[in-house]
Amino acid sequence: MAPVVCFGALVVALVFTLRTCHVVALLTEASSRQSFSGWGMQETDYNMRYQALLRDEVVARLKQLGNVSDANDFLQRTFLSPAAVKAGHLIEAWMQDAGLLTWVDDIGNVHGRLEGANVSAPALLLGSHLDTVIDAGYYDGALGILTAIAAVKVLNREGKSHLFPHPIEIIAFSDEEGVRFQTTFLGSQAVAGTFQPHMLDVADKRGITVGAALQSASFEGTVESVDKLKYDPASVWGYVEVHIEQGPVLEAQGLPLGVVEAIAGQTRLMVTIRGSQGHAGTVPMNLRKDPMPAAAQSIVAIEQLCTHSEKASGGSHGTSTMSTAANSAGSIVCTVGEIHSWPGASNVIPGEVIFTVDVRTKDDSLREHTVVSIEHSIQTICKGRGVSCTIERKHEAAAMSCGPGLSDRLQAAALTAMQELHPFRRSVSMVDESQYDTIFAPMLVSGAGHDAMAMSHLTQVGMLFVRCTGGISHSPAEHVLDDDIWASSLALLRFMEGVLGDLSFLNM
Ligand SMILES: *[C@@H]1O[C@H](CO)[C@@H](O)[C@H](O)[C@H]1NC(C)=O
Ligand SMILES: *[C@@H]1O[C@H](CO)[C@@H](O)[C@H](O)[C@H]1NC(C)=O
Repeated sequence: MAPVVCFGALVVALVFTLRTCHVVALLTEASSRQSFSGWGMQETDYNMRYQALLRDEVVARLKQLGNVSDANDFLQRTFLSPAAVKAGHLIEAWMQDAGLLTWVDDIGNVHGRLEGANVSAPALLLGSHLDTVIDAGYYDGALGILTAIAAVKVLNREGKSHLFPHPIEIIAFSDEEGVRFQTTFLGSQAVAGTFQPHMLDVADKRGITVGAALQSASFEGTVESVDKLKYDPASVWGYVEVHIEQGPVLEAQGLPLGVVEAIAGQTRLMVTIRGSQGHAGTVPMNLRKDPMPAAAQSIVAIEQLCTHSEKASGGSHGTSTMSTAANSAGSIVCTVGEIHSWPGASNVIPGEVIFTVDVRTKDDSLREHTVVSIEHSIQTICKGRGVSCTIERKHEAAAMSCGPGLSDRLQAAALTAMQELHPFRRSVSMVDESQYDTIFAPMLVSGAGHDAMAMSHLTQVGMLFVRCTGGISHSPAEHVLDDDIWASSLALLRFMEGVLGDLSFLNM
C-alpha cells in the first residue's frame, strides 16, 4: 500500500507544481495583455475579493443550516416545522450580524432590511427559500439566502450601504418546495399578492390546515393577516435570486455561473388508454386490443416529437446568446414519468394503461404546438390499434421571462466576478486556463419553478444560477464547489455596486 500512496503523493505534488507554474505564467502574460480587469491583479488585491465573508462564512453557514433538520438521519425542513422555525431564527441572527433590521411576517417569511440613501425609494429584494424537500441537500434555497446576506454584509462593512439608492431587503421564504401541503410558493405568493385565500384551508397528511399550522406557530392565520403581507408594486424595484442550477448545463460548459433568461412554462397531461382485458395465454395476437403496446408506441412518439421540435426550434426559438448545451436544455423537454396498468399482472393482457406527460419550454406557443402534436399522435396510434384514448390536461403554467435590464446587469456582474476570481482559484473549480478568453455567463432557461416565478407577479425578477456537481439536486449528494459559492456572492456584490455606480453617475 505504502509505495502506491507515495507515488500518488508524488504525482499530486508534480501536478500541483505544474499548475502553479502555469498560473504564474498566465499572470505574467496577463499583465502584458490587460484585456480584462481581472488580469494582472496583484496578490494584495486578494483581500478585495472578501474570501472570508463571501466564501468561507457562506460555506460554514450552509453546513450549519444543513444540520437543522426535522429528521435524524437526513435533511428535511417543511413549512413551519420545528426545524424550519429554528432555521428561521439562525437566518434572522445572521441578517442582524450583517446589519439588517429583521422581522418574521405572518406566513413565516424572515425579512432583513437596510434602508439605504432614500427610505421612500423602491426596494431591491433579494432572497430564496428556507424550506427543503425530504432528504435534501445543503444548497437548494439556502444558497440564495446566505449569498445575499454575505454580499449585503460586505456592502455594509465597506460603508457603501447607506449610499445605496434603494432600500435592500433580503427575504427567506417559508415555503417553496410545497412538501407539507403540496402547494408551492406559500411564502413568496403572500408577498407578491397572489396568495389565494382558500390555501388557508388546504390540509396536510395529518389533517392540519395551513391556517391551523400558522395559528399553532402563533401567527394569526387569517385571510386578513396574510393579505396584509402583499407588497405595493410601487414600493419594489426588483427581485434577484441566486440558486443552484439543478441541471448539468453549466458543468458541461465548465462555467460556474449563468443567468436565467426565463422559467419554462409547463403542461401536464394524463393519458388513459383502454383496450380489452384478457388471458395472456389464450387470446391470439391478432385478436387482441392491448393498450400496453399503444402506450409504448405513444411514449416513443412523444420522445421523437420533442427531440424533433427541439431541433426545429434551434433557429426560430433559440436565442443567439444561448450556447448549444444551454439551447438543448432550454428549448423543449418532455417526460413520461409515471405509468400504471390495470390489473397489472404478468398473465393478464391489461385492460387499461395510464401515463403522464410533462412538457416544458420557455416558449408558450412552441409548448402549445407540441402538446397538440402529442395529442394528435396518441389519438392516431390508438385509432390504428383499435383502443380508446382520453387525454386530460391536468396542469398548465405559462413561461415567465426575467427582466432584461436585470439580466444584463447580472450577466455583467457574473462576468466581472468570474474574471476577478480566476487568477486566485485554488483548484480546478473555476474555468480552465485555456478557456479564459471564453469566460462568459451563459443565458439559461430554468426548467424548475422558483420563488422568482411568484415574485414576477409583483416586480421584475432576475436569477443567477450556480453550477452544481453532476447537475444533482433534491438529494444529499447535491454539491456546489466552495469557489463557485464565492463567485456567486461576489457577483451579487458586484451587481449591487453596479446599481450604486450607475445612479451616482446619473446624479453627477
Ligand atoms: C453537522 O452534523 C454532522 C453529523 O452530526 C457533524 O459531523 C458536523 O460537524 C455538523 N456540522 C456543523 C457545522 O454543525
Ligand atoms: C427618493 O425616492 C422617491 C421615490 O422613488 C423619489 O420620488 C425621490 O425623489 C427620491 N429622493 C431623492 C433625494 O432622491
